[in-house]
Amino acid sequence: MSHALASRLDAVQPSATLAMTAKAQELKAQGRTIYTFGVGEPDFATPEHIRRAAAEGLAKSSHYTAVTGTASLREAICLATERDRGWRPSPENVTVGVGAKHVLFNLAMVLCEPGDEVVIPAPYWVSYPEQWRLFGGVPKFVQTRVEQGFLMQPEDLERALTERTKAVILCTPSNPTGAAYSRDELLGLVEVLRRHDCYVIVDEIYADLVYDGFEHASVARLAPDLMDRLVVVDGVSKSYAMTGWRIGWGIAPPALTKALAKVQGQSTTNPTAVAQIAAEAALRGPRDAVLHMREAFSARRKKMVEGLRAIEGIRCDLPRGAFYAFPDVTGLYGIRHGDRVLATDDDVALWQLDVCGIAAVAGTPFGAPGHIRFTYASAENVIDEALAALSRAVADARRG
Ligand SMILES: Cc1ncc(COP(=O)(O)O)c(C=O)c1O
Repeated sequence: MSHALASRLDAVQPSATLAMTAKAQELKAQGRTIYTFGVGEPDFATPEHIRRAAAEGLAKSSHYTAVTGTASLREAICLATERDRGWRPSPENVTVGVGAKHVLFNLAMVLCEPGDEVVIPAPYWVSYPEQWRLFGGVPKFVQTRVEQGFLMQPEDLERALTERTKAVILCTPSNPTGAAYSRDELLGLVEVLRRHDCYVIVDEIYADLVYDGFEHASVARLAPDLMDRLVVVDGVSKSYAMTGWRIGWGIAPPALTKALAKVQGQSTTNPTAVAQIAAEAALRGPRDAVLHMREAFSARRKKMVEGLRAIEGIRCDLPRGAFYAFPDVTGLYGIRHGDRVLATDDDVALWQLDVCGIAAVAGTPFGAPGHIRFTYASAENVIDEALAALSRAVADARRG
Protein backbone atom coordinates (compact mmCIF):
# COMPACT_ATOMS: atom_id res chain seq x y z
CA MET A 1 0.00 0.00 0.00
CA SER A 2 1.28 3.48 -0.81
CA HIS A 3 0.76 6.35 1.59
CA ALA A 4 1.65 8.92 -1.06
CA LEU A 5 -0.78 11.75 -1.67
CA ALA A 6 -2.20 12.18 -5.16
CA SER A 7 0.38 13.77 -7.42
CA ARG A 8 -2.18 16.21 -8.85
CA LEU A 9 -1.72 18.23 -5.64
CA ASP A 10 1.92 18.93 -6.56
CA ALA A 11 0.86 21.52 -9.12
CA VAL A 12 -1.28 23.49 -6.67
CA GLN A 13 -0.41 26.29 -4.23
CA PRO A 14 -2.34 26.82 -1.00
CA SER A 15 -4.41 30.03 -0.82
CA ALA A 16 -2.13 33.01 -0.10
CA THR A 17 -4.93 35.15 1.31
CA LEU A 18 -5.94 32.48 3.80
CA ALA A 19 -2.28 32.05 4.82
CA MET A 20 -1.91 35.78 5.60
CA THR A 21 -5.18 35.72 7.56
CA ALA A 22 -3.90 32.82 9.67
CA LYS A 23 -0.63 34.66 10.41
CA ALA A 24 -2.51 37.83 11.41
CA GLN A 25 -4.85 35.85 13.67
CA GLU A 26 -1.85 34.30 15.41
CA LEU A 27 -0.43 37.77 16.20
CA LYS A 28 -3.83 38.99 17.35
CA ALA A 29 -4.06 36.05 19.75
CA GLN A 30 -0.74 37.22 21.23
CA GLY A 31 -2.36 40.57 22.04
CA ARG A 32 -1.00 42.67 19.14
CA THR A 33 -3.20 45.31 17.49
CA ILE A 34 -3.74 44.03 13.97
CA TYR A 35 -5.33 45.97 11.12
CA THR A 36 -6.91 43.31 8.96
CA PHE A 37 -6.82 44.37 5.33
CA GLY A 38 -6.04 40.85 4.14
CA VAL A 39 -9.22 38.87 3.88
CA GLY A 40 -11.68 39.47 1.03
CA GLU A 41 -14.91 39.90 2.95
CA PRO A 42 -17.14 42.76 4.11
CA ASP A 43 -16.87 43.62 7.81
CA PHE A 44 -20.65 44.20 7.96
CA ALA A 45 -22.99 41.68 9.53
CA THR A 46 -25.46 39.97 7.20
CA PRO A 47 -28.50 42.31 7.08
CA GLU A 48 -31.10 41.71 9.78
CA HIS A 49 -33.99 40.71 7.49
CA ILE A 50 -31.85 37.98 5.91
CA ARG A 51 -30.83 36.53 9.27
CA ARG A 52 -34.45 36.64 10.40
CA ALA A 53 -35.62 34.78 7.30
CA ALA A 54 -32.98 32.13 7.97
CA ALA A 55 -34.03 31.78 11.61
CA GLU A 56 -37.65 31.31 10.55
CA GLY A 57 -36.55 29.01 7.75
CA LEU A 58 -34.88 26.60 10.16
CA ALA A 59 -38.30 25.13 10.89
CA LYS A 60 -38.66 23.99 7.28
CA SER A 61 -35.13 23.14 6.23
CA SER A 62 -34.30 19.77 7.75
CA HIS A 63 -33.89 17.85 4.52
CA TYR A 64 -31.97 17.58 1.29
CA THR A 65 -33.05 19.95 -1.43
CA ALA A 66 -32.64 19.56 -5.18
CA VAL A 67 -28.92 19.16 -5.93
CA THR A 68 -28.64 22.40 -7.90
CA GLY A 69 -30.69 24.44 -5.40
CA THR A 70 -34.39 24.86 -4.65
CA ALA A 71 -36.66 25.88 -7.51
CA SER A 72 -37.63 29.06 -5.69
CA LEU A 73 -34.01 30.12 -5.08
CA ARG A 74 -33.16 29.51 -8.72
CA GLU A 75 -36.17 31.56 -9.74
CA ALA A 76 -35.08 34.35 -7.34
CA ILE A 77 -31.60 34.26 -8.91
CA CYS A 78 -33.10 34.73 -12.37
CA LEU A 79 -35.27 37.65 -11.24
CA ALA A 80 -32.35 39.30 -9.44
CA THR A 81 -30.12 38.81 -12.48
CA GLU A 82 -32.69 40.62 -14.58
CA ARG A 83 -33.06 43.44 -12.02
CA ASP A 84 -29.34 43.89 -11.28
CA ARG A 85 -27.50 42.71 -14.40
CA GLY A 86 -30.02 43.48 -17.10
CA TRP A 87 -30.70 40.05 -18.61
CA ARG A 88 -33.01 37.17 -17.69
CA PRO A 89 -31.64 33.63 -17.45
CA SER A 90 -33.90 30.65 -17.02
CA PRO A 91 -33.93 28.60 -13.77
CA GLU A 92 -32.94 25.32 -15.45
CA ASN A 93 -29.61 26.90 -16.40
CA VAL A 94 -28.76 27.83 -12.81
CA THR A 95 -26.60 25.68 -10.52
CA VAL A 96 -26.38 26.83 -6.92
CA GLY A 97 -23.21 25.69 -5.18
CA VAL A 98 -21.45 26.10 -1.85
CA GLY A 99 -20.14 29.56 -2.77
CA ALA A 100 -18.98 30.88 -6.12
CA LYS A 101 -15.59 29.30 -5.45
CA HIS A 102 -17.21 25.87 -5.39
CA VAL A 103 -18.99 26.53 -8.67
CA LEU A 104 -15.72 27.70 -10.27
CA PHE A 105 -14.01 24.58 -8.96
CA ASN A 106 -16.71 22.35 -10.42
CA LEU A 107 -16.45 24.20 -13.72
CA ALA A 108 -12.72 23.44 -13.86
CA MET A 109 -13.53 19.80 -13.10
CA VAL A 110 -16.13 19.41 -15.83
CA LEU A 111 -14.28 21.40 -18.51
CA CYS A 112 -10.59 20.73 -18.10
CA GLU A 113 -8.72 17.92 -19.85
CA PRO A 114 -4.99 17.67 -19.11
CA GLY A 115 -3.16 20.12 -21.37
CA ASP A 116 -6.15 22.38 -21.91
CA GLU A 117 -5.31 26.05 -21.73
CA VAL A 118 -7.27 28.58 -19.70
CA VAL A 119 -6.68 32.25 -20.46
CA ILE A 120 -6.59 34.43 -17.35
CA PRO A 121 -5.82 38.15 -17.27
CA ALA A 122 -3.15 38.98 -14.66
CA PRO A 123 -3.36 40.14 -11.90
CA TYR A 124 -5.89 37.43 -11.13
CA TRP A 125 -7.80 35.98 -8.21
CA VAL A 126 -5.52 33.31 -6.74
CA SER A 127 -7.95 30.40 -7.10
CA TYR A 128 -8.48 30.54 -10.88
CA PRO A 129 -5.13 29.07 -11.97
CA GLU A 130 -4.87 26.67 -9.06
CA GLN A 131 -8.29 25.14 -9.70
CA TRP A 132 -7.43 24.46 -13.34
CA ARG A 133 -3.96 23.16 -12.46
CA LEU A 134 -5.57 20.52 -10.22
CA PHE A 135 -7.09 19.01 -13.34
CA GLY A 136 -3.97 19.31 -15.50
CA GLY A 137 -4.95 22.64 -17.04
CA VAL A 138 -2.37 25.14 -18.24
CA PRO A 139 -3.04 28.77 -17.28
CA LYS A 140 -2.07 31.29 -19.96
CA PHE A 141 -1.77 34.64 -18.27
CA VAL A 142 -2.39 37.87 -20.13
CA GLN A 143 -0.43 40.63 -18.43
CA THR A 144 -2.44 43.79 -18.00
CA ARG A 145 -0.81 47.15 -17.33
CA VAL A 146 -1.43 49.62 -14.57
CA GLU A 147 -1.40 52.48 -17.14
CA GLN A 148 -4.40 50.80 -18.78
CA GLY A 149 -6.24 50.45 -15.50
CA PHE A 150 -5.33 46.73 -15.35
CA LEU A 151 -7.81 46.07 -18.15
CA MET A 152 -7.02 43.34 -20.68
CA GLN A 153 -6.66 44.75 -24.18
CA PRO A 154 -8.38 42.95 -27.09
CA GLU A 155 -5.12 42.47 -29.01
CA ASP A 156 -3.48 40.87 -25.96
CA LEU A 157 -6.45 38.52 -25.56
CA GLU A 158 -6.25 37.64 -29.26
CA ARG A 159 -2.57 36.72 -28.94
CA ALA A 160 -3.24 34.43 -25.97
CA LEU A 161 -5.96 32.34 -27.65
CA THR A 162 -4.89 29.11 -29.34
CA GLU A 163 -6.67 25.98 -30.53
CA ARG A 164 -5.92 24.51 -27.08
CA THR A 165 -7.82 27.28 -25.28
CA LYS A 166 -10.72 25.72 -23.40
CA ALA A 167 -11.88 28.82 -21.56
CA VAL A 168 -11.23 32.46 -20.81
CA ILE A 169 -11.94 33.68 -17.29
CA LEU A 170 -12.94 37.32 -16.90
CA CYS A 171 -13.51 38.88 -13.51
CA THR A 172 -15.30 42.23 -13.52
CA PRO A 173 -14.93 44.05 -11.19
CA SER A 174 -11.67 42.32 -10.42
CA ASN A 175 -10.16 40.87 -7.35
CA PRO A 176 -7.38 41.99 -6.71
CA THR A 177 -7.22 45.20 -8.78
CA GLY A 178 -10.78 46.55 -8.63
CA ALA A 179 -10.58 47.06 -12.41
CA ALA A 180 -13.98 46.80 -14.13
CA TYR A 181 -14.80 46.82 -17.84
CA SER A 182 -17.14 49.45 -19.22
CA ARG A 183 -19.63 48.44 -21.89
CA ASP A 184 -17.31 49.51 -24.72
CA GLU A 185 -14.25 47.91 -23.19
CA LEU A 186 -16.15 44.67 -22.81
CA LEU A 187 -17.42 44.85 -26.39
CA GLY A 188 -13.80 45.06 -27.56
CA LEU A 189 -13.11 41.72 -25.86
CA VAL A 190 -16.39 40.22 -27.07
CA GLU A 191 -15.38 40.95 -30.69
CA VAL A 192 -12.29 38.76 -30.18
CA LEU A 193 -14.20 36.05 -28.31
CA ARG A 194 -16.75 35.81 -31.13
CA ARG A 195 -13.95 34.64 -33.43
CA HIS A 196 -12.64 31.93 -31.06
CA ASP A 197 -14.70 28.96 -30.03
CA CYS A 198 -13.99 28.53 -26.33
CA TYR A 199 -15.94 28.85 -23.10
CA VAL A 200 -16.19 32.31 -21.59
CA ILE A 201 -16.47 32.32 -17.81
CA VAL A 202 -17.40 35.68 -16.33
CA ASP A 203 -17.12 36.11 -12.58
CA GLU A 204 -19.45 38.96 -11.54
CA ILE A 205 -19.36 38.42 -7.79
CA TYR A 206 -18.38 42.09 -7.22
CA ALA A 207 -20.78 43.58 -9.78
CA ASP A 208 -22.90 45.42 -7.19
CA LEU A 209 -19.81 47.13 -5.80
CA VAL A 210 -18.94 49.82 -8.36
CA TYR A 211 -18.45 53.48 -7.54
CA ASP A 212 -18.74 57.06 -8.74
CA GLY A 213 -21.59 56.24 -11.12
CA PHE A 214 -19.65 53.55 -13.00
CA GLU A 215 -22.09 51.13 -14.63
CA HIS A 216 -21.37 47.43 -14.47
CA ALA A 217 -21.60 45.75 -17.88
CA SER A 218 -22.49 42.06 -18.35
CA VAL A 219 -21.22 39.99 -21.28
CA ALA A 220 -24.50 38.03 -21.17
CA ARG A 221 -26.44 41.20 -21.88
CA LEU A 222 -24.07 42.57 -24.51
CA ALA A 223 -23.49 39.33 -26.39
CA PRO A 224 -26.45 36.94 -26.22
CA ASP A 225 -24.92 35.24 -29.27
CA LEU A 226 -22.22 33.79 -26.96
CA MET A 227 -24.83 32.20 -24.69
CA ASP A 228 -24.13 28.62 -25.80
CA ARG A 229 -20.58 28.88 -24.37
CA LEU A 230 -20.96 31.55 -21.72
CA VAL A 231 -20.94 30.87 -17.99
CA VAL A 232 -21.79 33.60 -15.49
CA VAL A 233 -20.64 33.10 -11.91
CA ASP A 234 -22.19 35.19 -9.16
CA GLY A 235 -23.24 34.95 -5.54
CA VAL A 236 -24.37 36.65 -2.36
CA SER A 237 -21.05 36.62 -0.44
CA LYS A 238 -19.78 40.09 -1.25
CA SER A 239 -22.88 42.22 -2.05
CA TYR A 240 -24.95 41.01 0.89
CA ALA A 241 -22.15 40.44 3.43
CA MET A 242 -22.85 36.70 3.40
CA THR A 243 -19.40 35.11 2.99
CA GLY A 244 -20.01 32.54 5.74
CA TRP A 245 -23.32 31.31 4.34
CA ARG A 246 -21.56 29.82 1.32
CA ILE A 247 -24.02 30.35 -1.51
CA GLY A 248 -22.93 31.13 -5.07
CA TRP A 249 -24.13 30.05 -8.49
CA GLY A 250 -23.29 29.48 -12.10
CA ILE A 251 -25.56 30.22 -15.06
CA ALA A 252 -24.50 28.00 -17.92
CA PRO A 253 -25.69 26.34 -21.14
CA PRO A 254 -27.82 23.17 -20.64
CA ALA A 255 -25.13 20.51 -21.24
CA LEU A 256 -22.74 22.22 -18.86
CA THR A 257 -25.47 22.68 -16.25
CA LYS A 258 -26.14 18.95 -16.42
CA ALA A 259 -22.45 18.21 -15.93
CA LEU A 260 -22.25 20.56 -12.95
CA ALA A 261 -25.24 18.81 -11.38
CA LYS A 262 -23.58 15.45 -11.97
CA VAL A 263 -20.37 16.34 -10.07
CA GLN A 264 -22.26 18.15 -7.33
CA GLY A 265 -24.55 15.15 -6.94
CA GLN A 266 -21.47 13.04 -6.20
CA SER A 267 -19.87 15.51 -3.80
CA THR A 268 -21.77 18.07 -1.69
CA THR A 269 -25.29 17.25 -2.95
CA ASN A 270 -27.23 20.48 -2.33
CA PRO A 271 -25.79 23.58 -0.68
CA THR A 272 -27.01 23.88 2.94
CA ALA A 273 -30.80 24.22 2.93
CA VAL A 274 -31.08 27.07 5.43
CA ALA A 275 -28.36 29.04 3.63
CA GLN A 276 -30.45 28.78 0.47
CA ILE A 277 -33.38 30.29 2.36
CA ALA A 278 -31.13 33.14 3.51
CA ALA A 279 -29.83 33.74 -0.03
CA GLU A 280 -33.37 33.81 -1.38
CA ALA A 281 -34.36 36.40 1.26
CA ALA A 282 -31.35 38.47 0.22
CA LEU A 283 -32.27 38.38 -3.47
CA ARG A 284 -36.01 38.93 -3.04
CA GLY A 285 -35.72 41.42 -0.19
CA PRO A 286 -35.09 45.17 -0.07
CA ARG A 287 -31.84 46.48 -1.54
CA ASP A 288 -31.24 49.27 1.02
CA ALA A 289 -28.55 47.38 2.91
CA VAL A 290 -26.63 46.64 -0.31
CA LEU A 291 -26.72 50.30 -1.29
CA HIS A 292 -25.77 51.41 2.20
CA MET A 293 -22.75 49.07 2.23
CA ARG A 294 -21.75 50.29 -1.21
CA GLU A 295 -21.81 53.89 0.03
CA ALA A 296 -19.62 52.93 2.96
CA PHE A 297 -17.16 51.09 0.68
CA SER A 298 -17.07 54.07 -1.64
CA ALA A 299 -16.00 56.42 1.20
CA ARG A 300 -13.46 53.89 2.47
CA ARG A 301 -12.04 53.46 -1.00
CA LYS A 302 -11.24 57.17 -1.21
CA LYS A 303 -9.75 57.17 2.25
CA MET A 304 -7.60 54.12 1.59
CA VAL A 305 -6.36 55.28 -1.81
CA GLU A 306 -5.68 58.87 -0.72
CA GLY A 307 -3.92 57.63 2.42
CA LEU A 308 -1.74 55.22 0.46
CA ARG A 309 -0.89 57.85 -2.15
CA ALA A 310 0.28 60.22 0.60
CA ILE A 311 3.01 57.75 1.60
CA GLU A 312 6.28 58.26 -0.20
CA GLY A 313 7.17 55.14 -2.17
CA ILE A 314 3.57 53.96 -2.74
CA ARG A 315 1.66 54.52 -5.99
CA CYS A 316 -2.02 53.71 -6.16
CA ASP A 317 -4.81 54.15 -8.71
CA LEU A 318 -8.45 54.65 -7.79
CA PRO A 319 -10.21 51.36 -8.64
CA ARG A 320 -13.66 51.31 -10.25
CA GLY A 321 -15.09 48.51 -8.15
CA ALA A 322 -14.80 45.64 -5.61
CA PHE A 323 -13.22 46.50 -2.23
CA TYR A 324 -9.50 46.33 -2.88
CA ALA A 325 -6.75 48.89 -3.37
CA PHE A 326 -3.78 47.43 -5.21
CA PRO A 327 -0.82 49.80 -4.91
CA ASP A 328 2.67 49.47 -6.34
CA VAL A 329 5.02 49.31 -3.35
CA THR A 330 8.34 48.94 -5.15
CA GLY A 331 9.25 52.43 -3.88
CA LEU A 332 9.53 50.90 -0.40
CA TYR A 333 12.23 48.46 -1.48
CA GLY A 334 15.51 49.19 0.26
CA ILE A 335 13.97 49.79 3.70
CA ARG A 336 15.84 47.88 6.40
CA HIS A 337 13.88 45.23 8.37
CA GLY A 338 16.10 43.64 11.05
CA ASP A 339 19.01 42.09 9.20
CA ARG A 340 17.16 42.16 5.86
CA VAL A 341 16.49 44.81 3.25
CA LEU A 342 13.02 44.87 1.64
CA ALA A 343 13.36 43.60 -1.92
CA THR A 344 10.01 41.95 -2.75
CA ASP A 345 6.30 42.52 -2.14
CA ASP A 346 6.39 39.60 0.27
CA ASP A 347 9.12 41.37 2.27
CA VAL A 348 7.00 44.54 2.35
CA ALA A 349 3.89 42.61 3.48
CA LEU A 350 5.80 40.93 6.31
CA TRP A 351 7.49 44.21 7.32
CA GLN A 352 4.11 45.98 7.48
CA LEU A 353 2.70 43.21 9.62
CA ASP A 354 5.68 43.16 11.92
CA VAL A 355 6.20 46.92 12.33
CA CYS A 356 2.66 48.33 12.00
CA GLY A 357 0.36 45.33 12.52
CA ILE A 358 -1.05 45.76 9.00
CA ALA A 359 -2.19 42.48 7.47
CA ALA A 360 -2.46 42.82 3.69
CA VAL A 361 -1.57 40.31 1.00
CA ALA A 362 1.53 40.42 -1.22
CA GLY A 363 0.84 40.74 -4.95
CA THR A 364 3.00 37.87 -6.24
CA PRO A 365 0.39 35.12 -5.67
CA PHE A 366 -2.05 37.29 -7.70
CA GLY A 367 0.47 37.43 -10.53
CA ALA A 368 1.56 40.98 -9.68
CA PRO A 369 4.98 41.21 -8.05
CA GLY A 370 5.66 44.65 -6.58
CA HIS A 371 2.07 45.17 -5.41
CA ILE A 372 0.13 44.62 -2.23
CA ARG A 373 -3.60 44.08 -1.93
CA PHE A 374 -5.37 46.09 0.78
CA THR A 375 -9.00 45.15 1.42
CA TYR A 376 -10.81 48.31 2.47
CA ALA A 377 -13.65 46.54 4.24
CA SER A 378 -12.80 48.17 7.57
CA ALA A 379 -14.16 51.26 9.35
CA GLU A 380 -12.72 54.60 8.21
CA ASN A 381 -11.04 55.30 11.55
CA VAL A 382 -9.26 51.92 11.34
CA ILE A 383 -8.01 52.81 7.85
CA ASP A 384 -6.82 56.21 9.15
CA GLU A 385 -5.02 54.70 12.10
CA ALA A 386 -3.33 51.97 10.09
CA LEU A 387 -2.16 54.31 7.34
CA ALA A 388 -0.85 56.79 9.90
CA ALA A 389 1.17 53.95 11.43
CA LEU A 390 2.45 52.95 8.00
CA SER A 391 3.36 56.51 7.14
CA ARG A 392 5.32 56.88 10.41
CA ALA A 393 7.07 53.55 9.85
CA VAL A 394 8.16 54.61 6.35
CA ALA A 395 9.39 57.99 7.61
CA ASP A 396 11.30 56.34 10.49
CA ALA A 397 12.85 53.83 8.14
CA ARG A 398 13.97 56.53 5.74
CA ARG A 399 15.56 58.50 8.59
CA GLY A 400 17.53 55.32 9.25
C1 LIG B 1 -13.21 37.03 -7.72
C2 LIG B 1 -13.85 36.12 -6.76
N1 LIG B 1 -14.66 35.16 -7.21
C3 LIG B 1 -15.25 34.29 -6.37
C4 LIG B 1 -15.05 34.38 -5.02
C5 LIG B 1 -15.70 33.35 -4.15
O1 LIG B 1 -16.80 33.77 -3.50
P1 LIG B 1 -17.69 32.80 -2.61
O2 LIG B 1 -17.60 33.32 -1.22
O3 LIG B 1 -19.06 32.88 -3.18
O4 LIG B 1 -17.12 31.43 -2.74
C6 LIG B 1 -14.22 35.36 -4.50
C7 LIG B 1 -13.96 35.42 -3.05
O5 LIG B 1 -12.98 35.93 -2.57
C8 LIG B 1 -13.61 36.26 -5.39
O6 LIG B 1 -12.81 37.24 -4.94
